[in-house]
Amino acid sequence: MLSCIQPTGDVHLGNYLGALRNWVAGQHEADVFHGIVDLHALTTTVTPDVIGANTLELSAMLFAIGLDPEVATVFVQSHVPEHAQLGWVMECTVSFGELSRMTQFKEKSSRSETDFVSAGLFTYPALQAADIVLYDANEVPVGDDQRQHVEITRDIAIRFNHRFGDTLVVPEAVTPAAGARVMDLADPTSKMSKSSASTNGCVFLLDPPEVVTRKFKRAVTDSDATVAYDRAEKPGVSNLIDILSAASGMSAESIVSSYRQYGPLKSDTAEAVIAVLAPIQARYEELMADRGELARQLRIGADRARTVASATLERVYSAVGLLPG
Ligand code: TRP
Repeated sequence: MLSCIQPTGDVHLGNYLGALRNWVAGQHEADVFHGIVDLHALTTTVTPDVIGANTLELSAMLFAIGLDPEVATVFVQSHVPEHAQLGWVMECTVSFGELSRMTQFKEKSSRSETDFVSAGLFTYPALQAADIVLYDANEVPVGDDQRQHVEITRDIAIRFNHRFGDTLVVPEAVTPAAGARVMDLADPTSKMSKSSASTNGCVFLLDPPEVVTRKFKRAVTDSDATVAYDRAEKPGVSNLIDILSAASGMSAESIVSSYRQYGPLKSDTAEAVIAVLAPIQARYEELMADRGELARQLRIGADRARTVASATLERVYSAVGLLPG
């Protein structure tokens, strides 16, 4: 099983309760690979220093939330050169027409803030296909926005196998283990996102307690002053209930029956979130203060990833019939 994440900014509560927490639970259930896909982030222009710093911070965060480098394979994509190498072979196995039909490319290229649209943005699904098939992944848990990229990976793998003999595992997109659906506190009809208009609605995992408290205090609710769960009619209150439930383990029903007023619901939700974040923040600080240890953990991941990835690349080169070096 493989899931990947781009190092493009700070991890927030929606990422954590919605997905990352399940990565931690899932590490004991399957042979999991988690890539921090920094090469994918190059498809849009990056500022030097920022990409490396983001990669370091994201890896510290993944270990801080509880991914164990001895159990899960957590690696940085650029530390495993086979991604770029197999990416090229995948580019030569996918057609211009197929890539032109990718919705994400059409959207991203049309709303690009600059007029520079990199060729990498266009060929990105081929690199993603390489990420997936390198690890013989059977299952790729993805949200709806990435299903098309797993579909094209299947098409590429099937085509490759047809041309060169059975070489690649054909992966399947699976629905990720259900996590909490966390909405923006300031605009509870949109998903919590680091790119929303104001950061008031987005709780970052590194937010200090007073900031968490303030964001929850200001959370948008409604004027009817009854605590009830109704996503359509009462999105703000329902979001608080979901967050409190995810952070405390209490069921939504018991939360609804224990609260009469929004004030205590908000402050208890903030408290529960602070309690979830405290140990994560402590481990994060510890790791960031010990870069040697962090590098060691990433090396374990890269070594394990390379063992699998290099075997796949060799199989591919040999199937294609490249002259052995
Ligand atoms: N394209 C994915 C995204 O933007 C990230 C990604 C890269 C990925 N390689 C992957 C996801 C392989 C799953 C499997 O979110």
